[in-house]
Amino acid sequence: MKRHLISAADLSRDDALLILDTADELARISDRSIKKLPTLRGRTVVNLFFEDSTRTRISFEAAAKRLSADVINFSAKGSSVSKGESLKDTALTLEAMGADAVVIRHGASGAPHRLAGWVRGSVVNAGDGTHEHPTQALLDAYTMRRRLGSLEGRRVTVVGDVLHSRVARSNVLLLATLGAEVTLVAPPTLLPVSVGSWPCEVSYDLDSVLPKSDVVMMLRVQRERMNAAFFPTEREYSRRYGLDRDRVARLHDEAIVMHPGPMNRGMEIAAEVADSARSTIVEQVANGVTTRMAVLYLLLGGDI
Ligand code: NCD
Repeated sequence: MKRHLISAADLSRDDALLILDTADELARISDRSIKKLPTLRGRTVVNLFFEDSTRTRISFEAAAKRLSADVINFSAKGSSVSKGESLKDTALTLEAMGADAVVIRHGASGAPHRLAGWVRGSVVNAGDGTHEHPTQALLDAYTMRRRLGSLEGRRVTVVGDVLHSRVARSNVLLLATLGAEVTLVAPPTLLPVSVGSWPCEVSYDLDSVLPKSDVVMMLRVQRERMNAAFFPTEREYSRRYGLDRDRVARLHDEAIVMHPGPMNRGMEIAAEVADSARSTIVEQVANGVTTRMAVLYLLLGGDI
């Protein structure tokens, strides 16, 4: 495995399977009443979050703590970043404090890549702009594997605001590596121009894709990244691309419904679908901790 995890494309098939298998092992520990392992005792993990986050930040913190690492949480708000300090100066500060790993979320695509050039420790991308979010793709693959078995030949449909989604890009790359067949479904205005070169199919018709899907992954409509009108009205979006009870009825019995969170209930996904037995949304959060433990363990644990 490489020293950093910046893109899902950094992972070979063997790397990805090793992470998923390691997460399986670590999940057994998470079921025990004492969840802690001594593996990363004396190592320091810094969570460097320049963008809002609930589950990803808490998940990385829980993962590092369960491996006994010292965790420093840094959020840009209330720090010298709000006084105009650059990413480079922040990186040099972390370096001086001896960070063994830096987990970074940043609004600019490419920020983790720059950071990796300035620090000695491992850099883990926890979401950069509209670019990538590789640990989300890993926890999603892990969740699919637990529910469906091997991903080879499985059909995964990713629906919604692909244009602004780092989750979609990382999922497409990782799922292709793991042998799944991905179809993106979105209005043409919410697909990036580069999508033709991605290893996946594209469709504009959700209803025709649903019957052959093993997994339907709904994406949040990212209003905070939209500076123009990408669809006529929310109702119209929901009618064409939202997952409601009638659409779910088109799925086969074993098919699962995923969402990385946070959800716009009633917009891209109906509340009753989000809370149904097919939904893996809460499992995804729990699996996030074990998957991130596996990533930190393999990047910092040393002997692999
Ligand atoms: C995603 C993100 O931040 O990219 N959420 C997450 O990490 N759980 C998706 C989103 O914000 O819609």
